[in-house]
Amino acid sequence: MITIALPKGRLGDKVYHLLDQAGYGFTAMEDVGRKLVIDDQEKQIRYLLVKPVDVAVYVEKGVADIGVCGKDIIEESGADVFELLDLGFGRCSMAVAAPEGFQENPRKRLRVATKFENIAREYYSKRGRDAEFIHLNGSIELAPVLGLTDVIVDIVETGTTLKENHLTVIDRFMDISARLIVNRSSYRFKEKEISTLVDRLKEEISID
Ligand code: PRP
Repeated sequence: MITIALPKGRLGDKVYHLLDQAGYGFTAMEDVGRKLVIDDQEKQIRYLLVKPVDVAVYVEKGVADIGVCGKDIIEESGADVFELLDLGFGRCSMAVAAPEGFQENPRKRLRVATKFENIAREYYSKRGRDAEFIHLNGSIELAPVLGLTDVIVDIVETGTTLKENHLTVIDRFMDISARLIVNRSSYRFKEKEISTLVDRLKEEISID
């Protein structure tokens, strides 16, 4: 049996659609309800419906053999997994943004609001920039608008949230899209099943 961690929500719907097209759909999707574990005995697949941010953890620890999550989640979690495929959807970027007209004072410690503290820390430490990080769980754009921080490190997709809050991108530094990740030992012990699934997904992606 292969266990697949699916991210619940918008990204999950797209992933599920792709898996279904590739022949890995659940036979009784309508009956899922609030279930978080779904077994398809016939196809020998178990699906785990998890928060997108937790997918990499389930795969790294081997509870799931395979998972799909954004590149941002892989980088932020630092999970030790194989990244086998770029699924090409869920495209966005990680960026530093600040209020329009923001002038950085290099002598002052920079205050940064973010949901992605590890990514942000690495970004500034690589550049040798003294920075202080304030972890927020959402509506990150509010922080510089209200003077809580100078800048944010966050996801930009259409740019609408930034624009409507009078913020502007200073540096777009990471391309994000949905990636198929695999547990290291599963890849060794279930190589045949996993390779078949990956090949089927590749075919579907190239058709789209
Ligand atoms: C994300 C991100 C930005 C927004 C970017 O937030 O944190 O706020 O989407 O999208 P845009 O460039 O298309 O406007 P999300 O919708 O996940 O909500 P959150 O504020 O609760 O994190």
